[in-house]
Amino acid sequence: MASTVRKAVIPAAGLGTRFLPATKAQPKEMLALVDKPAIQYVVEEAVRSGITDILIITGRGKRSLEDHFDRSFELEYYLEQAGKFDQLKEMREIAEMANIHYVRQGEPRGLGHAVLVAREHVGDQPFVVMLGDDIMHERAGVLDSMLDVFERHRGAVVALKEVDPQEIQFYGCATPEAIDDHLVRILDIVEKPAVESAPSNLAVMGRYVFPPSIFDALDQVQPGSGDEIQLTDAIKLLLADEAVYGWTFRHGRFDVGNKLDYLRATVELALEREDLGPGFRAFLAGVARREGLG
Ligand code: UTP
Repeated sequence: MASTVRKAVIPAAGLGTRFLPATKAQPKEMLALVDKPAIQYVVEEAVRSGITDILIITGRGKRSLEDHFDRSFELEYYLEQAGKFDQLKEMREIAEMANIHYVRQGEPRGLGHAVLVAREHVGDQPFVVMLGDDIMHERAGVLDSMLDVFERHRGAVVALKEVDPQEIQFYGCATPEAIDDHLVRILDIVEKPAVESAPSNLAVMGRYVFPPSIFDALDQVQPGSGDEIQLTDAIKLLLADEAVYGWTFRHGRFDVGNKLDYLRATVELALEREDLGPGFRAFLAGVARREGLG
């Protein structure tokens, strides 16, 4: 079913403390996976799903994000003079992918606060939220499936993935009621529960589809876990009034704000590349032999 949702909000104002020192003077969303910054994968995913308008929530030290999606006339001139027309085309396409807007969060007061900053831009329409450091593999089709659920049920949809029970303390955690294979209704949701009291091991991942009513909920939320305005707390308020759904998936998500996941993402994406894959695979096979793996 073709989606009617056209706007995406990409919160990218966090400090990225888990990836220091690399993120001291550059945004984590600009860390390269092979040869593309993480946030470009997120924008490409949005565009593939029919999104035409993207609002990136930025903060101090995030200007390189804006430069990346802007034209670079000096670079284009150089590439043209050098006859590097393929690269020239690729650079122009980055600047023309979608209508990209920016707004600053001011202070990183939490993901919920970052989304609330988007209120005026989004207006009275459904929209998606895509975390700028969560990469979803194209094959997983997570956002497309979530938009499909939204069109059928007209309720908020949250991406959910089972995690190791010890890991649930780092995520939002849902209490689900099964509807079908992938779809659940969310009965309750809590941010970063203690391992012993977590209602499930279904963790919230960085993709959401929201009706505009999420903004009223966010308005009412007080600072919660980590003294931040939590998006999870607003979802909890929302589900007291309307149905909220969860789309469960298993594979293809990388949190590139986490060093180990960043390495995994780099390896997986490099292996799939036609130009780099064969050489890289041979290199990895050599490493595996040397290390006595596999
Ligand atoms: P994270 O908790 O992963 O981001 O937030 P962080 O705070 O940058 O990371 P660490 O823990 O210090 O390493 C999830 C998403 O929400 C955004 C982040 O940029 C990230 O995309 N975010 C978080 C904001 O935009 N504003 C905030 O105040 C907090």
